[in-house]
Amino acid sequence: MARETKFERFQVRQMTGPIGAEITGLDLARDRSPETMADLKRAIHRYHVLAIRDQKMELEDVHQVRAALGPFSGNPVHEPIDGYDDLMILNREPDETGKVIGEDWHMDLAWLAKPPGITMLYGHDVPPVGGDTCFTSLEWAYRSLSPAMKAMIEDFVVVHSGKGVLGQQYGSVKMRADVHKIASFEVEHPLVCKDPVTGERYLFISSVIDRIKGFTPAETRPIVDYLFKVATRPEFNCRLRWAPGTLGMWLNPCVMHTAINDYPGYRRTMYRSTIEGWTPIAASGTRVAA
Ligand code: SIN
Repeated sequence: MARETKFERFQVRQMTGPIGAEITGLDLARDRSPETMADLKRAIHRYHVLAIRDQKMELEDVHQVRAALGPFSGNPVHEPIDGYDDLMILNREPDETGKVIGEDWHMDLAWLAKPPGITMLYGHDVPPVGGDTCFTSLEWAYRSLSPAMKAMIEDFVVVHSGKGVLGQQYGSVKMRADVHKIASFEVEHPLVCKDPVTGERYLFISSVIDRIKGFTPAETRPIVDYLFKVATRPEFNCRLRWAPGTLGMWLNPCVMHTAINDYPGYRRTMYRSTIEGWTPIAASGTRVAA
């Protein structure tokens, strides 16, 4: 399915068939006009992952782009940096070992009633090799299911929980003092959702699914494991190769992503912010109470 769309304010090159686009010819330190922001939003709902190349941004610029795109989503997990409630730094030192933050397929803050709509990550210090981020399209995953499977899951409601998020400490990334509160967070989201802008259907799945409503945990597991396996198939993926000055953005509820832990001996420093999203909308029109 060709998904090329024309944009007047920048050039777009698709990364893979389903997902991802590189954006060139745009300087966000100079142009944050409503027209450019509207085009970026159109592009992100189209391609789901954008790699905006050759930016020169300090913390203030990342903050300004976030503000131009929309309100901050909030982040009950990570400590913001001094002076900016909406920014955090993901830093990995050359001698750090163990898991990197964001390793393993996940959606950001899926256990909130309104998960972030857009996550932004700016490559300040990027390893010369490795440190990519992989993304997968939950729209294409949904499309690949059989009509019988689509009919079966159409009205499923899934409970996502903050329980599993705690206990994961990643090197120098700082957690909020009150982070323990998220263990009690639980939210119901429809499994088959629609993008409020394009109307396209996607599978709303995450790594923190506790159960399908009305199903036992034993009944839930094989269904969710199967959908997770489909959703992470390589043909639905793209790989964002960071360079210094790349501003990445992804349409968080429509993708899952995973950081790649393959750059021992190198520093990686990324500035991160998140933009308010929407209450997930059931594709069937069935409402789920928030
Ligand atoms: C994240 O999961 O938000 C971080 C991804 C990355 O650092 O590549």
